[in-house]
Order: sequence, then structure tokens, then C-alpha cells
Amino acid sequence: MNPPDRIAEFVSALRDAFADGSLIRLKCGGYHGDEAELKSVEARKVSIKAGERLSFVFRYKTRDITKNLTLDEAAGFCEYGLANAWRSARLETTGFDLQFERQGDKQRLKRTEADGRAAPEGSHDRAKNRPLSDISAVWLHALGITGKDGQVRNDAQDKFRQINKMVEIFAPLIQGLKAEKPTILDMGAGKGYLDFALYDHLQAQGRNAQIIGVELRPALVASGNALAQKSGFAGLRFETGSILDFDASNADAVIALHACDTATDDAIFRGIEAGAGLIAVAPCCHKQIRREMSAGTADDRLDFLLRHGTFMEKQAEMVTDGLRALLLEAHGYRTRVFEFVSDAHTPKNNLIVAQKGKAASRQSVLDRITAVKAMFGIDKHYLEGLLGL
Ligand SMILES: C[S@@+](CC[C@H](N)C(=O)[O-])C[C@H]1O[C@@H](n2cnc3c(N)ncnc32)[C@H](O)[C@@H]1O
Repeated sequence: MNPPDRIAEFVSALRDAFADGSLIRLKCGGYHGDEAELKSVEARKVSIKAGERLSFVFRYKTRDITKNLTLDEAAGFCEYGLANAWRSARLETTGFDLQFERQGDKQRLKRTEADGRAAPEGSHDRAKNRPLSDISAVWLHALGITGKDGQVRNDAQDKFRQINKMVEIFAPLIQGLKAEKPTILDMGAGKGYLDFALYDHLQAQGRNAQIIGVELRPALVASGNALAQKSGFAGLRFETGSILDFDASNADAVIALHACDTATDDAIFRGIEAGAGLIAVAPCCHKQIRREMSAGTADDRLDFLLRHGTFMEKQAEMVTDGLRALLLEAHGYRTRVFEFVSDAHTPKNNLIVAQKGKAASRQSVLDRITAVKAMFGIDKHYLEGLLGL
């Protein structure tokens, strides 16, 4: 009589737990296969655009690589791997744990009841509706979004909401770009939250893209590059330098989130100059136009507003961004300005999205810009100077 096939039983339990939503985690250890430095692998169920998958994180000595597999691919991985490369495997579900062990030809399978465990987040509808549905990603942990327990940290909920929202907005805009493998520049990338999120999401959607984060601070660039490598994100990299010094001529999209004061204008300028199909900026602090408005002479009829500091502040912000939108329109872009997230999460919540295409007549837009500047007592918007106007 043949011995019971423990691997088949294990795989069958994996299939059932995947199907009924009770799967928490699959883990394999005791690796003795051909891949150098591979230590262990862990998988959780995720919902991505392409459908439900098992997100496998392959842990190597110095890096992690994430791959999303279909259930059939995951079953094939277990069937071959448990027979040939992994000496142990553990399946954790909401109802029981299954521990597989192999020594030579001997296989053992032990089931331990674990009633009443909560279903994992990846199987909830809420997670399905979020672009970043795989919260086990290495980069989310490294950037402090998820904690040791693998869940989004309480103090990172706003950041997580923001980057999900950004990905939700940017992904379709990038899908719409003509280039087969668009180059996306993130100007003033900081730690690169958006870049990791966007790259992860586009990769899961099967959209090829190259993302380059441009950042003044070398330490952030070094840590970003190390994390991109650890995540297996070959098309994501960071470069040290200032926005204005960066050669953006190959850019299909230029993005800048909360780049300081006029750094936003530097990014817009580089995007216009490159003829990028998409330019999207979420401005941060606004100082230049505020100074111009204070020094200049605005239309008397605005005095009832501008004599109050708080209204002056708000007006300066709106005028700065309104003029940015007009200057983009004067260069052949259609623009939209909207709040990308509620101001309860961040006061810097406006996004200017500009797409190259049929726009208003250049002269009529330039005339409007002249009229607006006269109304608010502005000599020149910093972006005009960059554009040689
Ligand atoms: C407020 S942080 C925002 C970081 C990131 N975009 C985000 O939203 O998480 C602004 C970043 O822009 C960088 N920065 C400011 N001016 C820059 C410039 N002219 N060139 C390159 N980076 C710049 C700063 O070093 C900083 O890391």
C-alpha cells in the first residue's frame, strides 16, 4: 500500500483555504534547493486588479522579492517545492494550522485546531477596493507604514490613505500615456512613498514603467535605492540632484508632491520643456506670490479681503496655483485642480493635473495671466521667469 500523500493533502488544504477566504498565511522553511541565499518564503492572499492572487515574498539573505502567483501556480510551487526544496511548510487558516515536515522520504503532517482567528485583511472587501491591497510588501514595512504585526500602523493611517489615493489617481493617467514603457519623474521624491506605491501597483497591473525619484538629499537617495533593490523593483531608482539640474528630456510624466515652494515650479518647467504627456503637482508651501502681493499694489476692490492676513494667505495660495494652471494651459495642456484627499488629513491637499492635448488659444491665456497679475499687484510668477515669459 502506498503511504499517504501528505503534500497533496497540504496543497488541497491550501486550495480550500484560498477559496473560502480562511487563508491567513503560507510559510516554507528549511530550504535546500539551488537558489543561493534563499532562506524562506511567505505568502498571503491579495486582491489585485488582475484578480485574487497569492503574494509570495521570497526572503534572501540581503533582500526580499515579491511575486504574485495564481492559485494554480502557488499549488504547483508547493507540489514541487515541498517534495524537492523545502523541508517544512506551515499553512495558517482561521480554523486550523497545518504543519508539514519532510525528512528524506518521510513526510509528516500535523493539524492543530485554532478556532476563532480573525480573517486576514487581504480577504476583506475594504482591501479589495484599495489599490495597495498587498500590505505585506517589504517597502511598506521599511517606510514605516506597516508594523511588526504586518498591519498598517495607527500613526501611518493618513499616509497610507494618501498614497492609496495618489495611486488611484495616477495609475489611470499613466495607463493613458502613449509610451509602452513610460518614464515617470518624481521631483523632490523624499523617501519615495509614492514611487514605491506606484511602481508596485503598475507592476501588479502588468504595466511596464520606469520611475526615477529626483531628490536633493543623498541619504534619502541611497536608502531609496537600497529599498528598491530589496523589493526587486528593477525599474525604480533615485538620483541625487536638484530638479532644475536634472535632464528631464525623456520624461513622459513629471510628478511633484509637496516639493517646497518654487521647487514645484521647477518641476512644472522641466515637464513643459520635456513635452511630458502628464504633469501632476501637489504644491506645498507658497511664498513667492505672497511676497509679490504684499509688495505690489492690488486692485482696491480686493482690499476688504487682503487686509486680513488669513485671507491674504489663502488668496496667495489660490493665485499661485491658478497662475500655474494658466501657464500650463498657455503651453498646450488641459488642466484640472482638485483636492486629492480631505483637508482633515493634510492641508496641502490640492493637486494640479495637466495633460497635453488640445488647449485654449495661447494668446487669450497669456492675456488672462496679464490681467490676473495686474489685479493682484504681481510683477512676475517665478514660473514665468523659468519659461522665459
Ligand atoms: C516635503 S518633502 C516631500 C517628499 C515626497 N514628495 C512626499 O510627498 O512624500 C519635499 C522633498 O523635496 C526635496 N526637494 C526640495 N527642493 C528640491 C529641489 N530643488 N530639487 C530636488 N529635491 C528637492 C526635499 O529635499 C524634500 O525631500
